[in-house]
Amino acid sequence: MIILAIETSCDETSAAVVKDGKEILSNVVVSQMDIHKEFGGVVPEVASRHHVTSITKVIDSAIEQASINTKDIDFVAVTKSPGLIGALLVGINAAKAFALANKIPILGVHHIKGHIYANQIENEMKFPLVSLVVSGGHTELIYMEKHNSFKQIGSTLDDAVGEAYDKVARVLGLGYPGGPIVDKLAHQGDITYDLPKPYLNKDEFEFSFSGLKSAVINLIHNARQRNEEIRVNDVCASFQDSVTDVLVYKTIKAANKFNVKQIIVAGGVAANKGLRSKMKENSSGFDLAIPSIKYCTDNAAMIGIAAYYQYQDLNNYDKMDLNGKPYTELDKY
Ligand code: KG4
Ligand code: ZN
Repeated sequence: MIILAIETSCDETSAAVVKDGKEILSNVVVSQMDIHKEFGGVVPEVASRHHVTSITKVIDSAIEQASINTKDIDFVAVTKSPGLIGALLVGINAAKAFALANKIPILGVHHIKGHIYANQIENEMKFPLVSLVVSGGHTELIYMEKHNSFKQIGSTLDDAVGEAYDKVARVLGLGYPGGPIVDKLAHQGDITYDLPKPYLNKDEFEFSFSGLKSAVINLIHNARQRNEEIRVNDVCASFQDSVTDVLVYKTIKAANKFNVKQIIVAGGVAANKGLRSKMKENSSGFDLAIPSIKYCTDNAAMIGIAAYYQYQDLNNYDKMDLNGKPYTELDKY
């Protein structure tokens, strides 16, 4: 089964060709990061416009790089939610146009499902499993009993982890996106600032990062007012230590409670080196799967893999009235 997958939920225009839910024949990702950097974050309308100019070229390249003919494609998978609505609609309309022109069906896929299924590219998923999903918009713990079955067991009550990283980087003047640079500087610093580890022992699987974010912002503002030196690397190291302690502790707790075989980490923040190594150190007894960095951040290959398993389970496609939604919960299936 050959699937053409399209992902445009945020600031990456991506198309991929995926075979039999496993083999990535191509995965083209055009990032708009340099454009949004100038504004210190993603500007939704600017993102939509750039998706429009890139999408056709990206789809053409994905098909060409996969060395297939258009007629080999069985269906088109596309991210339907959550995401920036204007950005999602560019991908959805491109998918519909391609499907109509080639008389093939379309299938809408939840973005978070894609992040989780990015793990299936290089590792075999082993059930039951628990997945920590951490990105710019999400911080969730998801339990999966089998393929295409999702139960949310915890989530953030306020900010997503990636959002907190981006905000901290902004206050420190480190640019956008903040995650990778804070991660890099954290490795050059020491944990010398006393920062909270929010919800570590509270509300079993819920997270909260706005308090930690505010603690870092206050610390920086106070130091500036007093003309004190801010040891940027140490702030990054201390912030990252608090974040990763909470994420790892709660994930392992969930893995034990639900007696899972495997722990998987997914989403853009899964690229974080501190999180990857702390999770490795603390997950003995469980099979740990984390995608390689290129499959952690947004890409269409992960949407193609998730679409394959969704189709295997439900055996149906979407109609041409498929619409994008800025937010929907990860459905049970
Ligand atoms: O999954 P993703 O590409 O887009 C969303 O669906 O949100 O995640 C982007 C988020 C951004 O907040 C970015 O700062 C964060 O992932 N991120 C990281 C790292 N690389 C990307 N956060 C921490 N450490 C990293 N190495
Ligand atoms: Zn994402």
